[in-house]
Parts: sequence; C-alpha cells; structure tokens
Amino acid sequence: MAYPYQITSYEAYTEAYKKSIENPEAFWSDVAENFTWKKKWDSVLDWNFTEPNVKWFSGAQLNITENCLDRHAKEMGSTPALIWEPNDPSEKNRLLTYSKLLERVCQFGQVLKNNGVKKGDRVCIYMGMIPELAVVTLACARIGAIHSVIFGGFSAQSIADRLYDAQAEFIVTCDGAFRGAKDIPLKSVIDDSLIGNRSIKKVIVVTRTRTPISMLKGRDVWYEDEMKHVEEQGIHFIEAEPMDAEDPLFILYTSGSTGKPKGVVHACGGYMVYTDYSFVNVFQYKKSQIHFCTADIGWITGHSYILYGPLSAGATTVIFEGVPTYPDAGRFWDIVAKYKVNILYTAPTAIRSLMGFGLGPLQDKDLSSLKVLGTVGEPINEEAWHWYDEHVGKKQCPIVDTWWQTETGGILISNLAGITPSKPSWATLPLPGVQMLLVDEKGEEVLDDGNETVSGNLCIKGPWPSVLRTTYGDHERCRTNYFATYPNLYFTGDGALRNKEGYYRITGRVDDVLNVSGHRIGTAEVENAINMHAGVIESAVVGYPHDVKGQGIYAYVIFGHIHGDETLTRKDLLQTVTRIIGSIAKPDKIQFVTGLPKTRSGKIMRRILRKIAEGETDNLGDTSTLLDPGVVDEIKRGKL
Ligand code: WTA
Repeated sequence: MAYPYQITSYEAYTEAYKKSIENPEAFWSDVAENFTWKKKWDSVLDWNFTEPNVKWFSGAQLNITENCLDRHAKEMGSTPALIWEPNDPSEKNRLLTYSKLLERVCQFGQVLKNNGVKKGDRVCIYMGMIPELAVVTLACARIGAIHSVIFGGFSAQSIADRLYDAQAEFIVTCDGAFRGAKDIPLKSVIDDSLIGNRSIKKVIVVTRTRTPISMLKGRDVWYEDEMKHVEEQGIHFIEAEPMDAEDPLFILYTSGSTGKPKGVVHACGGYMVYTDYSFVNVFQYKKSQIHFCTADIGWITGHSYILYGPLSAGATTVIFEGVPTYPDAGRFWDIVAKYKVNILYTAPTAIRSLMGFGLGPLQDKDLSSLKVLGTVGEPINEEAWHWYDEHVGKKQCPIVDTWWQTETGGILISNLAGITPSKPSWATLPLPGVQMLLVDEKGEEVLDDGNETVSGNLCIKGPWPSVLRTTYGDHERCRTNYFATYPNLYFTGDGALRNKEGYYRITGRVDDVLNVSGHRIGTAEVENAINMHAGVIESAVVGYPHDVKGQGIYAYVIFGHIHGDETLTRKDLLQTVTRIIGSIAKPDKIQFVTGLPKTRSGKIMRRILRKIAEGETDNLGDTSTLLDPGVVDEIKRGKL
C-alpha cells in the first residue's frame, strides 16, 4: 500500500507546500491521521517563538514504538525491520523481523523496568552500532524513558558532563565496540566517566567484544542475563506507555558556539510525524525497499533516518557496525550488493574519502539495486556530487542533498528524489510546512531582486512538527541560542544563497561552530579543552578548508614553557583534547604563537586568524584596531 501522504509529482509538491503554509493545522492533521494514536489531539498547533513554546497535537497520546513496531508486526511481522552488517564481513550478519524486533524491544523494556527505570527517567546509551543499540533505544521509548545516546567517539569527561546535565541515573553500554581495525573499550570509558559519580544506579552491559571489563557489584549487570531472566518470566510483550504528544522522547547533545554542548530535546508526537513524513517524501521510499543510512545512531541522522523515520514507515533499515574503508574501500559497495540496497544515504566526507581511492574499489560491484542516493551533514562540493552521480548512481539515481540539524529533528530543505529537480551542491527547496527565509546582518528579510542570487543568514518562520522544544534543564539557553537573534524567527546558524528558482545553497556556519567530517564541533569547546593543558596560556581555534573533512581544525596556542620539543608538546595537546572531548575534536594543525591578534578591548580577531589558516596572507582586512599589529606578521610567518 502506498503512503497517502507521499508526494508523487512536482505539481503535488507545489500544492502540498501551498496548503501547508496557508493552513498548517489542516495539512499536518491530515498527515497525522495516518498514524496510530492512543488518543487524538484536541488542538493541532499552539505556538509562539518568543518564549519559545511550541505544541503540536496537544492532548493527543501515543507511543512512537507502536507506530514503528506494533502496527507493522501485525500486518507484516515477517518483513525484516533491521539488517545488521558486522564490522568484520566474515562474521555472520543478523536480521530482525518486525515481530522479532517488537519482542526484543518489549523484553528489554521489561529489563529496564526490572532495574528501576520509570517513565521520564533519563537513560544514557553509549554503544557501538549493533542491533541491541536499536533495541535499547526503542525500549526506552516503549516505557517512556528519555534516551540520550552518546556517540562512541566521546571521552569519559564528555560523558560525565552529559550525565550530569541530563541528571541520568541509568546507562546502557557495551563491553567494547569494533570499528574498522580498532576495538573501542566502551565500558572502560564509562567506568572512567563514573569515577566519583553517585547518581548512576545501574549500568547494563551488552556483550560484544568480550574484552575483560570490571563489573561493579550492585551497579553493573549483563544485558544477556537480564534478558534471559525476562524470557524465563515468559514475557514477550509489554504494553507501550501512553505518552503525551509533547512529552520528551529523547535528548541529544550537540555543540554550539559556547563551550558547553546543549541537550536538544525532541517531543514524541511531532517528531514521529515529521521523521516518517520526510523519510517517505525525500527518499521517495517504496514499500519493501532496503534503506541504508551510513550514519551512527549517536548522531541525529541515525536517530531520524536509521531508526524512527524508516521504522515508522515500515521500511527495512540497514545498520552497519564498521567504517567505509574496512577491510577495504569497497565496503559500502559490498554492502549495497549484498543486501540489494535501494537507498544509500551518506555524508560528503565519506564520498570524498572514497574518491581518494580511485575507481578500483567500485569495479565489479553490483550497484544496480540503487534507486536513490542522499547526502547529509555538510555542503557537498560539485566534484564529489558528480563522482557520486556517475560512479555510484551510474547517472540513474536522483541525489537528494538534505539540509537539516539536530535541532530540526528531520530534513527541512531537500529535493524530493526524482520529483523535484536537483542541482549539484544545492539543497534546493524547503519541504512542505517549512518557511525558510534569508535575513541580513540587521535582521531585515533579504528579498529576491529579480534575477540575481541573494545571500543571507538562514532563518525559519513558524514551527514545523519536529522543531526542538527546549534545551534540557535550561530553556533560556534554547531561547537565546535559536530564537533571540532575530525576533519571531528560528535562526539556524547557517548562511545560505537563494537563486531565482527559490533554491537554497548552504554556504556553512556563520557562528563559531565547525563542521568537521559532518560533525559539529564548537571552537570554544576545543579552546576550553586545549586551555586545560598545563602550560597553555591561551588559545584560539578556527576552521580551514580541508579536502576530505570539509573543514579542519586549526589551533593557535600560546604556550608558557614547552616541555621537551614542539612535536611532543603537540602530541600532549592532542591527548588533552582527546581526554576532554574525544578524538573527533583533535586539531589538525597546532601553531605555537607568542600572541594573538586582539582588539584594544581584548577581543580575539578570529577573522584574521581564519584568513591566515585559509592561506590568505595579504587581504587580512583592517588590522589598525589591533592592540599589537606586529603579532600578525609573526603568525603569518609561522603558518603551518
Ligand atoms: C550542516 C546534521 C550543507 C549545517 C543533520 C547545519 C549541511 C549542520 C547540510 C547541522 C547540507 C547539514 N548542506 N550543510 N545538506 N546538512 N549541514 O546538527 O551547517 O549534526 O547547521 O545535523 O550541518 O549539523 P547536525
């Protein structure tokens, strides 16, 4: 059966868009009618962006897992919900049908209950990409606990900060994770994060690598033992907890321009409707197709387009444990051929990195099952777009360039595969329900001026169903970060161009947030970590263009006393950043300097540092306001 809310022609898109703007309530209630609700809504939408306070489907009750599991288990229980491809291709893969996944989710839901987890409790999940990660995440949703998944690349210190911020009392982790040639000791990182912690009541540990780990009596329990216990109790099903549409579903931490990551909170009802709607429309998903999103569930892309969107739509979703280059750079193509993948959704960084291996790894790989390709997370350069189109899609597959954010919950700007036109490196048109606009520095709307492409800061008028509701524990932070820069608008933090067709092209962040390999990292966060190193007096971090990662991290560091030599000191600094944030935030370049360009009021002129890092030496703009213009020449001479 097709999806009644699937847009199947360009005209239907224009019509849907028009209706969604003229009457959002009618538009979204029509879409929402296709979902399973325990109780229907009293009102579709109440909102203001001043507090902000956004409520979709007020009065309604639901449980997202009934939409993702029960309704499909009933109608097509033997259809695969998850296909899991292990890191090592010689290990046996696993497949969970909708019936099986529902049963496992119920059983683990019971495990959570047996361990004292209640509705509204925060459960932190720190796991590798194994089927149990899906089971655990969905089981939290089943019983109404709020999950907060932390990507496996974050350090003990980052986890400790997040546990504290979320006031989490429960953790689910693995002994370790396999990622390419590496074993990541997840449980041992968790143990480090819990030194001195008195609030965590239980740590549930899934066996994966079976590396020796410490298991603390009274706190740590094995997943397998707990599941067996539930099985012995004869429990195969538990009722889904009724959730108010506005109850929080999860927290996901993301970096902003200040030093501390924010816990973005998404609500059950709107998130469910929008992730499913956007999945079905952007990728033009057809029943029984195989969808492979290569992201990690530790990021929003994994939440929305490995788990919730595809499962709600009854799709078969592939979970891949490893990395694109292991055991060789043909791994993605092997997976596509093995499972006859129809939709491949990945990051420009992965494409650029695979391009570097030439066409060899693609030879003799059967990619004929592919119908739609997608990219996410960062701007895609035209060269990578064409390579993807020619060598992966064989010019037969539309490419969707999907723009969105952790805070938006789902894709907001993208072409709809094969339905609306694509344009290399342009995300193109907003989805129905999404009113994008550009504003200038003063907050004035930038209007089209006839035929030229215009540029500005990307903002959104009015709410879409999966807009973030708050930042956990600090609503004011949500307001100042997103809703206060321009009155009555949501500000994305991105800059963009708009051409005369109304297509958007994202040019990148306009705030102090970097996008490294599609991962968001705040420069202030990296500076804080560097400054923690004994001997560092001050530092400034900026981004610079990087061929594969999109952006690289360039750190200028004032060091009091170099202990040993510079190379070793650089390594010490990398260790410090790895300890404080995680290896994903390690600077690519560290330049030691004796001073930083500052204004007389003491503000670092990042613009100058950015230009130098980009390789610009002449046009540094006005440096006359600098306290000590001489420092700029020194920095230029020492550029790495
Ligand atoms: C960037 C990832 C250009 C953008 C889903 C945004 C993109 C940030 C695109 C959000 C795209 C995401 N083209 N830039 N198609 N998609 N971005 O929260 O700067 O990890 O603000 O969400 O990634 O990153 P986040």
